[in-house]
Amino acid sequence: MTILITGGAGYIGSHMVLDLLATNEKIVVLDDLSTGFTGLVPAIVPLVKGDIGDKPLVKSVIENYGVNAIMHFAAKIVVPDSMTDPLGYYLNNTAKARTLIEAAVESGIKNFIFSSTAAVYGEAGEMPVTENTPPAPVSPYGRSKLMVEWMLEDAARAYGLNAMVLRYFNVAGADHAGRSGQSTPRATHLIKTACEAATGKRNGMSVFGTDYDTPDGTCIRDYIHVSDLARAHRLSLDFMRAGGKGTVLNCAYGHGSSVMEVIKAVKQASGVDFPVSLTERRAGDPPEVVATGEKIRALLGWAPAFDDLGVIVADALAWEKQLATAALNRPV
Ligand code: UFG
Repeated sequence: MTILITGGAGYIGSHMVLDLLATNEKIVVLDDLSTGFTGLVPAIVPLVKGDIGDKPLVKSVIENYGVNAIMHFAAKIVVPDSMTDPLGYYLNNTAKARTLIEAAVESGIKNFIFSSTAAVYGEAGEMPVTENTPPAPVSPYGRSKLMVEWMLEDAARAYGLNAMVLRYFNVAGADHAGRSGQSTPRATHLIKTACEAATGKRNGMSVFGTDYDTPDGTCIRDYIHVSDLARAHRLSLDFMRAGGKGTVLNCAYGHGSSVMEVIKAVKQASGVDFPVSLTERRAGDPPEVVATGEKIRALLGWAPAFDDLGVIVADALAWEKQLATAALNRPV
């Protein structure tokens, strides 16, 4: 009864590892270490360096470790990069996921949990979105993920693979106990960027657009703490193991914060009044992205523990401060 976590050395995957360890699950991580860090995976967890697109490897990991469920986090996630390198994104996120799913089906895996994204909704006009809002992704990133959702839906029908699709909204924060956090360099995400500014790693930051049709003119997003997100996966697995059928679930709190509110929270938590410049809109940013989050609460009994912007920001900031000295790499 081992769970295979692809991308377990990455930001969200490593929080998943911590969550499952706390519940005494047996796990194995498969990660190509292109953006992950070995030091984010506790030493007691087996870590296989390799590619999800390498079917013989995946099948041997499944067999050797007695895997019977897969949580699939490994992916490329930078939306602007997907615009300039769409084929690279379709290879990594779509074609390799197809191979992983095939390996799962051939090995008789029952339960599969997939990291999808709010990007599948594109610029959905109506807010908040629900799982019934028609997908209309505008980036190759969003499309690369939506195609995997479709493959899983078809694989469920044809082969009986039980698949849960979790569409993440804006994931942020870090492990409350300081064991993991967002570590990749060249951050573009708002909370990470603001924490870098607060800790002097960059000289201030920019607000991309102040003329949106929102109360303070800046964009609104539904920020969800990474540990609450990890728990949503564990509850999904419990649900499926108990015979529940996989479905599509939005992972969101159901309310949003503006860019200005986030920056204010980071300044408050850090006590640093870093410089902020008001600049032009960033291409492709919808004014508001918020989901109701009702379905996941009702189906899984998911009750967030960190639904508080102040806590999310404080945890992200604490990680940012220790990142300079954190042991991100260990031999595997
Ligand atoms: N922003 C700034 N300044 C910055 C960084 C971001 O003003 O330095 C603004 C953005 O313009 C946006 C908001 O902060 O309005 C949030 O931006 P992020 O880059 O943090 O997140 P996005 O909402 O753009 O991206 C998220 C996920 C992606 C996902 C995308 C679309 O991180 O994985 O939503 O759903 F694909």
